[in-house]
Amino acid sequence: MTIQEAEKKLKLCGQEHVLRFFKKLGKKEQAALLGQVATIEPKNVKACQTALKAGVEAVDNSKGTAPKVSVLKGKALKEAIAAGEAELKAGRVAALLVAGGQGSRLGYDGPKGCYSIGPVTGAPLFYFHARKILARSNRYGKPIPFYVMTSEANNAATVKCFEDNNYFGLDKKDVFFFTQGMWPGMTKEGKIILDAPGHVFMSPDGHGGLLAALKKSGALADMKKRGIKSVFFFQVDNPLVEIADPAFIGYHVNMKSEYSLKLCAKRDPFEKVGMPMKFGDKYRMVEYSEMTEEQCTRKTKSGELYFKYGSPAIHVFDRAFLDREASRPMPLHLAFKKIPVVDDSGKTVKSAEPNGYKFEKFIFDILPNAKTAAFLAFEQKDEFSPVKNAEGNDSPATCKADMQEKWAKWLAEAGVLVSRDMAIEIDPVYALDAADLKANGLCLGAE
Ligand code: UTP
Repeated sequence: MTIQEAEKKLKLCGQEHVLRFFKKLGKKEQAALLGQVATIEPKNVKACQTALKAGVEAVDNSKGTAPKVSVLKGKALKEAIAAGEAELKAGRVAALLVAGGQGSRLGYDGPKGCYSIGPVTGAPLFYFHARKILARSNRYGKPIPFYVMTSEANNAATVKCFEDNNYFGLDKKDVFFFTQGMWPGMTKEGKIILDAPGHVFMSPDGHGGLLAALKKSGALADMKKRGIKSVFFFQVDNPLVEIADPAFIGYHVNMKSEYSLKLCAKRDPFEKVGMPMKFGDKYRMVEYSEMTEEQCTRKTKSGELYFKYGSPAIHVFDRAFLDREASRPMPLHLAFKKIPVVDDSGKTVKSAEPNGYKFEKFIFDILPNAKTAAFLAFEQKDEFSPVKNAEGNDSPATCKADMQEKWAKWLAEAGVLVSRDMAIEIDPVYALDAADLKANGLCLGAE
C-alpha cells in the first residue's frame, strides 16, 4: 500500500491522525505502518464507532427459559454413537480449534497451545489435541482435517511448534492454519489509538472472528471440497476435550441441528460460564454477568438449579451453517482497557486507568441464527478442565490433576491400580479411551 492509498483510506473513516508521525519514521517503520493500515477496513472502523455510540446496551434476559438438554443413555446413546461413527467413517467430520487468544491471565510468553501440560513428558497443549485427532482418524480410517485459528501475534510460533514436532504425527496436508483479524483499539471518541509513532494498537477480533477468517482464508472452501458436514469446535486451553466424539457428532446429525452445544452442570450457581437460554423459538447465550441473582439461584420443584447447565464452548456446527453465517456481520463486544498511547511529542505513555476500547466478536452470537439447535449434557470432570489462570482455579495444576484423575480411572477400569503420588500420562494414540487401554493391556507410568 502506498502513502497516498493509506491517506485516502483513512480519510474515508476520519482517521488521518494515524499518519501524523509518518514523515519522521524510518523506511522500515513506514512500511510496517502502511502494512497495518492495509489491514484496517473503513467499514469495520465504522462498525466500531457505531458500537461505541450504542455503548453496552442492557439486554433484558428476564424472559429467558432453560433449554431442553438431552442426557444420552442406553439405546439413545448407542444410536448416537452409531450415527457419529458413520460420519467419521465417511470422512465428513472436521476439527476446528480457536487458538488466537492472548492468554493474558496465564501470562505465558507464547501461544497458549505451546504451553507444557503433559504431567510426565511436559508435552504442549497442542500435542494432546493433535494426537486425539490422529487417534480418532486412525480408528475410523479417514482423516479428520484439523483447522487451527491463530492470530497475527502467534501464528508463526504456532506453525513452528507443529513443524518442530513433525505435526505430532498428523499428515501436514490435513492441517490448515489460518489467522483471525486484528482490530485497532479506539478512544472513547472513536479515534484509532497509536501506541508508538509508527504503530497502531491492535488486538485479535475475538473467537467470533473465526467466521470471517474461515471464509477469507479459504478454510470454508477447503471443508466443502473435502465433503465435510460436521465441524467440531473447541478451545485451546482444555486438554480434556473429547475431540469429534462420535456420540456428540451423531447426536448433532440425528437432531438435524445447525449448532449443537455440549453443556455441563454448573459447579456452583454463580460459576462464570455462559448460559444458553430460550427466548420464544430462538436461543441466545447469556453471559454469567448478565444473569440476575434470582436467575442464578432459581430452583426447580425437585430442588435442582433451574439454569443448571453452562457452556464450556464445545460445539458442533453444520458446515453449511458456518458458510451462511460467514457473510453476515456479527455484533461487537466492547472491552474498556488500559492501552498504551503515544502523546503529541511521539512518546509512549502507559495509562494507569482504562482509557480505550478493544473490540471482540463472540462465536456464540450466531446461536440465535441457527434454524435448529441442540443441547447435550456431559460430565464436566470427564471433558472440561481449562488452563485459564496461572494459579488457583482453572490453572495448570488443576488441569494436570484432572487429566491424571481421568487416566487413573481408565487404568482402574483396565484393572490397574495406580498410586496417587505417581505421575501418569497416556498418549491419545496409544489409548483414546478406557476401552482402548483395556484392549492394549499395557500402561505407562513414571515417578
Ligand atoms: P479466552 O476467552 O479464554 O481468552 O479464549 P484468552 O485470550 O485465551 O485468554 P485471556 O482471557 O487473555 O486470559 C477462549 C478461546 O478462544 C480463543 C482462545 O485462544 C481460546 O482457545 N480466542 C480468544 C481466539 O482464538 N481469539 C481471540 O481473539 C480470543
